[in-house]
Amino acid sequence: MNTSLNATLPGQPHIAYSGDQLLIEGVSLSELAREHGTPLFVYSKAAMLSDLAAYQRGFAGRQAQICYAMKANSSLAILQVFADAGCGFDIVSGGELARVLAAGGDPAKVIFSGVGKTRHEMKQALQVGIGCFNVESEAELDVLSEVALSLGKQAPVSLRVNPNVDPKTHPYISTGLKGNKFGIAHEDALRAYRHAASLPGLKVVGIDCHIGSQITDSTPYLDAMDRVLDLVAEVEAAGIPIHHIDFGGGLGINYNGDKPPEADALWAQLLAKLDARGYGQRQLMIEPGRSLVGNAGVCLTEVLYLKPGEQKNFCIVDAAMNDLPRPAMYQAFHQIVPVTPRPGDGVVYDVVGPVCESGDWIGRDRQMRVAAGDVLAVLSAGAYCMSMASNYNTRGRAAEILVDGTKAHLIRQRESAFDTFALEQLV
Ligand code: LLP
Repeated sequence: MNTSLNATLPGQPHIAYSGDQLLIEGVSLSELAREHGTPLFVYSKAAMLSDLAAYQRGFAGRQAQICYAMKANSSLAILQVFADAGCGFDIVSGGELARVLAAGGDPAKVIFSGVGKTRHEMKQALQVGIGCFNVESEAELDVLSEVALSLGKQAPVSLRVNPNVDPKTHPYISTGLKGNKFGIAHEDALRAYRHAASLPGLKVVGIDCHIGSQITDSTPYLDAMDRVLDLVAEVEAAGIPIHHIDFGGGLGINYNGDKPPEADALWAQLLAKLDARGYGQRQLMIEPGRSLVGNAGVCLTEVLYLKPGEQKNFCIVDAAMNDLPRPAMYQAFHQIVPVTPRPGDGVVYDVVGPVCESGDWIGRDRQMRVAAGDVLAVLSAGAYCMSMASNYNTRGRAAEILVDGTKAHLIRQRESAFDTFALEQLV
């Protein structure tokens, strides 16, 4: 554990020690824990906007729409931050669309991805006039055309193509390989485009690909871009114009010394390729999620008990796999640091939660000097934590705070036990 009192933490420019206090922007994390209790998610607005600015710099002078992939963190106030900054949204359900509208997002800047859109969701999206459907199969084309015609509309569509490149990330978050359920195979794409163009309820507007998540190397992106541009050329040669090119999301963040390219540096490389192949002035779309919010958030958790053992020492905290599912699901690493460090070397612990599963761990083999009652900050918890949280073990979901400078706004109240069963009925 980092117990030194020096400045910022790696990959977390908006989270820093000042004396013996860990601050997010200008707010003390131990004070937030005292006031609101734990587990508590705390996000920095400045961190999100600075991560967004890297993309905006990268696209300066280009026609590009950034559609925040809201599955990473779909809290209304966070959507509001991105909507106010001009972003559109990449959604994957009717529920996410309802959130965008509730947060004041512009439906015309919404793109709807996902392999299993229902007729009801298609209808809902057509009625509010979303920007584009990213269609993932030929069967979906037929259904979408039918639904659009029943409303007297034409659905704007982009085909998600599967470029069959390896993003070199965790297998559960690779999406652009042949064996994945996502997208239309590269070799079937031209046929699918011809089919789409023939359907009266559809209007072909674009092409889309998304190859995976937590990608830390630019090579898979460059390879995927070549494959996608080859297809654009083929499809347009067949007389079907492609208005926009969507390169999905997937850029990784620094969890544990990972060194992904900065968004602007990645896009300098990708735009150079687009320019070289004559597509530099096309309308571009991207769907970043994690890289806009992941390192903007922490989860505060209190140490409940220290339990020394023969083989392992356990540090039992009040956050669990229902709050922070990534370690249990992907063996993911999150840094864990004290909000008020104690001097000394400490002991090696497994940091675990109260849930009744051996898979309920948050960090393994972490050297820490801690005592019961201390508050720890689990870092890089802005993406795919709260949005994947559950009520397992009838644990209410955590509260959330958005920090803006020296102000801390409560953006979601802590769920009570009653909230977790409010929709249930006795027979
Ligand atoms: N677009 C599409 C079509 C996607 O499926 C995803 C993520 C994104 C964009 C955003 O990808 P990002 O920029 O966030 O990498 N729960 C996993 C990650 C699942 C990603 C699913 N799709 C995790 O915690 O690592």
